[in-house]
Amino acid sequence: MSLLTIERLNVAFATRQGRVKAVKNVSMSISNQETLALIGETGCGKSIVAQSILRLLPTNAQINGRILFQGRDLLLVDEKTMASIRGKEIAIIFQNPSLALNPVYTIGWQVGEPFRIHQGAKRSQSIQESVRLLSYMKFDKPESAVKMYPFEFSGGMNQRALIASALALHPNLIIADEPTRGLDRKVIQQIIEQLDRARKIHSSSMLIITHDLSVARSISDWIMVMYAGEIVERAPTRDFFQSPFHPYAQGLLGSLPENGFHPISGQSPSMIENLQGCQFHPRCKWAKERCLSEKPELLSVNRRLIRCFLYD
Ligand SMILES: Nc1ncnc2c1ncn2[C@@H]1O[C@H](COP(=O)(O)OP(=O)(O)OP(=O)(O)O)[C@@H](O)[C@H]1O
Ligand code: SF4
Ligand SMILES: [Mg+2]
Repeated sequence: MSLLTIERLNVAFATRQGRVKAVKNVSMSISNQETLALIGETGCGKSIVAQSILRLLPTNAQINGRILFQGRDLLLVDEKTMASIRGKEIAIIFQNPSLALNPVYTIGWQVGEPFRIHQGAKRSQSIQESVRLLSYMKFDKPESAVKMYPFEFSGGMNQRALIASALALHPNLIIADEPTRGLDRKVIQQIIEQLDRARKIHSSSMLIITHDLSVARSISDWIMVMYAGEIVERAPTRDFFQSPFHPYAQGLLGSLPENGFHPISGQSPSMIENLQGCQFHPRCKWAKERCLSEKPELLSVNRRLIRCFLYD
């Protein structure tokens, strides 16, 4: 059953240079206990999708569409309801743990915050819960760890503490936006394993945004590829890595070191100008006359969705 359904989401920003169309007609769904990985190059709109779900968009954003979470449209609920959903029913893990944590409070105080905000727990109770959560995330000495400050931890430890806090109230949906960015390979693997284990124990669903295709591959059931604000492919993860269909997705995999490191030449189009036809055509070696003037629709092919004339 679908836990989250996004229908025709559009997000634009009013700027001095013009209207930036960051997310264009994005529809997607995540079922109970499933993980969907959203991938695509920098600036393609991934974080804006995540911020839309949580209603954390910058003030110059114009948004329309529907975001149905357990039957409620999150774009229509009042701010009080939204605040009770954030951190409790939908947890967020951001990319930079050092920014997400406040340097002047202890780890224990911060990890225990959901218990104080959503369950009215007292200070000591919330710290006790922090000890439990940190031991659960395999911290060596959780009783000492709760007394420490973020600067006394490595980036990886801070991220594990944040994951512990995000999962504290057993959210139905976890949104992780680049949770492993800037960490070294060994720590990435540890974090992904712990995140996946915790997600499974709580039967949560997850939307993970990542540049790291090996992370996407190891943790997700579905891959969704965005390009210039649009979805260009959605496929079961295993099928996708066996054979990506969209030329852009093929380029992404081809740029991996294990596949010979052939980066896609050219740049994605500006989000301000209105490029005619397929948004990928200036970089696509298969582009035909039609691709320059006509826009491909997202079509269903086997268990995939694909936006490319090669498949219609
Ligand atoms: N407040 C804003 N005003 C104007 N444009 C914005 C604003 N916030 C984001 N954008 C633009 O929206 C687009 C999508 O941004 P987004 O942060 O979702 O990218 P992303 O896919 O998450 O990239 P990255 O992988 O680098 O995190 C970008 O082109 C960005 O410049
Ligand atoms: S529609 Fe045309 S330009 Fe776009 S990806 Fe497909 S072949 Fe390439
Ligand atoms: Mg981002």
